[in-house]
Amino acid sequence: MATIGTDITTAIRHLRQGDPIGLPTETVYGLAAKALDEAAVVKIFQVKNRPSFDPLIVHVASLAQAQEHVSELPESARILAQATWPGPLTLLLPKAAHIPDLVTSGLPKVGIRVPNHPLALELLRQVDFPLAAPSANPFGYVSPTTAQHVQDQLGAAIPYILDGGPCTVGVESTIVGFENEKAIVYRLGGKKLEDIESLIGRVTLRLNKSSNPIAPGMLATHYAPRKPVILGDISELLPRYQGQKVGVISFQQDWGVTSGTQLILSPTGDLEEAARKIFSALRMLDTGSFDVILSERFPDVGLGRAINDRLTRASVR
Ligand code: TXA
Ligand code: MG
Repeated sequence: MATIGTDITTAIRHLRQGDPIGLPTETVYGLAAKALDEAAVVKIFQVKNRPSFDPLIVHVASLAQAQEHVSELPESARILAQATWPGPLTLLLPKAAHIPDLVTSGLPKVGIRVPNHPLALELLRQVDFPLAAPSANPFGYVSPTTAQHVQDQLGAAIPYILDGGPCTVGVESTIVGFENEKAIVYRLGGKKLEDIESLIGRVTLRLNKSSNPIAPGMLATHYAPRKPVILGDISELLPRYQGQKVGVISFQQDWGVTSGTQLILSPTGDLEEAARKIFSALRMLDTGSFDVILSERFPDVGLGRAINDRLTRASVR
């Protein structure tokens, strides 16, 4: 099992040796390794059992550092980065030549971001290399939002997990790319669409659901528990699953579930609170003795969009 601790020096020692570690960020925990060291990056793919066609996000300490790893920075990208970093936004930008193809899966652009987490930022400031880090879960499974989540699934394969407490955002970063200066959102996430549009105007959504996505965070099935997840109106679903032990995810409302359990993510109707809790809820219900997970759709605004995106992908079989 991995050692769980808060010691940045120990974390850096493992990274320097070329081993991946669990890294806290504000969105979800990452499985981080030296981004420019191909042997270290290969270990990320092995530990996650991740197909090599799924590119990795590169993490740096500042916009200035990000600029060292990209060959172009469109004006809208600069505006977004300056207003949002450190924060839950990944920019897809033309990569500098030294970024290994393994990191970008051969694509000409690199996904890059500055995470907003004190431990991660301190670590990134102390090292002279960027970190490649996908979410620290086995490929296709629910992302981890605590150090223990990482331990439960990847602990046997990595030496160290830097414990930064529960993630404060709880869903992955929003991914934005550019085509001729036009912004395209590829993944809804922790940075609200509304905030992005208030900074750079209307953006195009390209949230792939096809079987040939440009990257698997966009696969129809992803972020998925092993148990079936059914999305819909809880009042209609409960009678349909009568006699089964159900795990219910509800936003605000108490559905009086008797056969099973319900997790109310935010009785006060706060979507940011719900986003913080959604992956823990899916994990808890997946590991409990339930036959099926039932979830309602969340209001399709703010972080509710990212929650609905994850629930939809979790429910596709
Ligand atoms: O919040 C996050 O973004 C977290 C934390 C750890 O930073 N990371 C994360 O990484 O969610 P991951 O690997 O689970 O999802 C990254 C997704 C890929 O599946 C792909 O969809 C997209 O980012 N991506 C990364 N680099 C890309 C590239 N060069 N071109 C297109 N898509 C890319
Ligand atoms: Mg992931």
